Amino acid sequence: MSAPNLTPQDLHDWLRSRRSVRRFRPDPVPAETITRILETATWAPNAHNRQPWRFVQLASRESREALAGAMGAEFQKTLTADGLTAEEISVQLARSRARILEAPEAILLCLDIDVLDKYEDPARTQGEYLMGVQSVALAGGQLLLAAQAEGLAGVWICSPLFVPTEVSRALGLPESWQAQGLILLGYPVKIPEERPRNSVDQITRRL
Ligand SMILES: Cc1cc2nc3c(=O)[nH]c(=O)nc-3n(C[C@H](O)[C@H](O)[C@H](O)COP(=O)(O)O)c2cc1C
Repeated sequence: MSAPNLTPQDLHDWLRSRRSVRRFRPDPVPAETITRILETATWAPNAHNRQPWRFVQLASRESREALAGAMGAEFQKTLTADGLTAEEISVQLARSRARILEAPEAILLCLDIDVLDKYEDPARTQGEYLMGVQSVALAGGQLLLAAQAEGLAGVWICSPLFVPTEVSRALGLPESWQAQGLILLGYPVKIPEERPRNSVDQITRRL
């Protein structure tokens, strides 16, 4: 289905105009807008149409605090291992916590491993797992574009991926829901400059 009045070039330009946005106006996002965005995300292509994505909308202060706390302990360990001073660590921890607490919307993207096919052959099971991860990532990309269609913007935050067990426990999620990423959304303060891309010629082999 093509969009009326939009040329293919218009659509390419629009798709290329998405930016990761990390600073938001405080304005709330209407509930029906979020529902529309999540619904569009579920139209992402996915392996076997198993739809392994799960969304956790962190609507309460308590759930944001729980997530920030679960991730903070691990982040502190990583920064200590990286050799940062106690002061540098506390600045970074406070910034990460503030980002999670202050974003108008925060949606945790999870993979439900219960719906994935499992086989005797570990390599085949691993392939199915990777397809599950790829499917959730496609939903995340589509979610960000759907948000852009609503005048919103956002960013994918990777930190929950490193502590999936702690995150599931802190939020009371089913054990089979593995955190893949956190998407922060809101109305942008400003759209950042584009980050450069390698040219297609550089990264493509035509055989
Ligand atoms: C899987 C993934 C993980 C990311 N993790 C983070 C993150 O933890 N923090 C952050 O600020 N941005 C994160 N980003 C956003 C990227 O930094 C951003 O997409 C990239 O720099 C290109 O910029 P653009 O999205 O504005 O084109 C992540 C993006 C993806 C897809």
